[in-house]
Amino acid sequence: MNGNDYAISCCGLTRRFGAVTAVDDLNLDVPRGRIFGFLGPNGSGKSTTMRLLCGLLAPSAGHATVLGCRVPEEAEKLRLRMGYMTQKFSLYQDLTVIENLRFVARAFSLGQRRMKERIAANSALYQLESLHSRLAGTLSGGQRQRLALAAVTLHEPQLLLLDEPTSAVDPQSRRDFWDRLFELAEQGATILVSTHFMDEAERCHRLTFLDRGAMVREGAPRDLMNRLEALTVEIDTEAPRRTRALLGTQDWVRAVTQLGNRLRVMLMPDMEEPAEKVRELLGEADLQAVVRRTPATLEDVFVAATGFGGSQRA
Ligand SMILES: Nc1ncnc2c1ncn2[C@@H]1O[C@H](COP(=O)(O)OP(=O)(O)O)[C@@H](O)[C@H]1O
Ligand SMILES: [Mg+2]
Repeated sequence: MNGNDYAISCCGLTRRFGAVTAVDDLNLDVPRGRIFGFLGPNGSGKSTTMRLLCGLLAPSAGHATVLGCRVPEEAEKLRLRMGYMTQKFSLYQDLTVIENLRFVARAFSLGQRRMKERIAANSALYQLESLHSRLAGTLSGGQRQRLALAAVTLHEPQLLLLDEPTSAVDPQSRRDFWDRLFELAEQGATILVSTHFMDEAERCHRLTFLDRGAMVREGAPRDLMNRLEALTVEIDTEAPRRTRALLGTQDWVRAVTQLGNRLRVMLMPDMEEPAEKVRELLGEADLQAVVRRTPATLEDVFVAATGFGGSQRA
């Protein structure tokens, strides 16, 4: 693939705020027409990276090329070709839905005729027709988010940067939202989307995990799960807390997560019979349990990518 096949290409991209390195030497290539997921704990640099890619912030070091334009130098050329949905709802709460759409259309210099066509098309696609005269501030989470997506795609951008777009949205609305994203990608748009939802991450073509500004994992979801550097077992037990405490004392246990009366345990990757070893340990302590091997999930990848929960962060 040559450079032009990538919608986004970053090389050594770095942004510091005083003593904090929000984005640390990021090398990232995002192919066109794909949905690319951006994952990482709060404060790991997802939003800052998006701002750098829009040209809203200048890098402290490194550079990025977005749709063939260097940012921030050529950001103005990009303005009409990309859309950025900020983490916080950024439309006007005290304007109606139709007023917001018209405002955005003008900001993107759509002429009268195209404005009319595009607002009609997106109002139909995002089921906003019956909401046109409602104040944006009175919409539900799902409705706001449909309005936000209608607004950000009004000028038919080739690249969308969506920063945690579904964080205040119910599960059905999230599913509908993702159906729309797949349609946009099929029509050729490239989408960079940050999320904390692992079910959404699993739907992306590729993923990047950030931790404290640095890229710690990159790849297709399935490959990342297959490459997990830990073995996983599940334990059904009536004594999850005692079992968890015992596991926590073992140096071959990397992380334990409780789900009701089930524990999900990540173990060192080089163990021969992991389930057997756990059974023995619990048996010696007279803890009743059913132990079984289980395939890795993206949540496991997240835990591994961010240091198995052992690292301290603000
Ligand atoms: N404008 C800013 N001034 C100072 N520090 C900032 C600014 N923006 C972000 N940061 C810091 O940069 C780090 C990354 O933040 P951010 O990109 O918002 O992470 P995320 O979106 O992954 O939660 C955090 O430590 C945050 O406090
Ligand atoms: Mg953020």
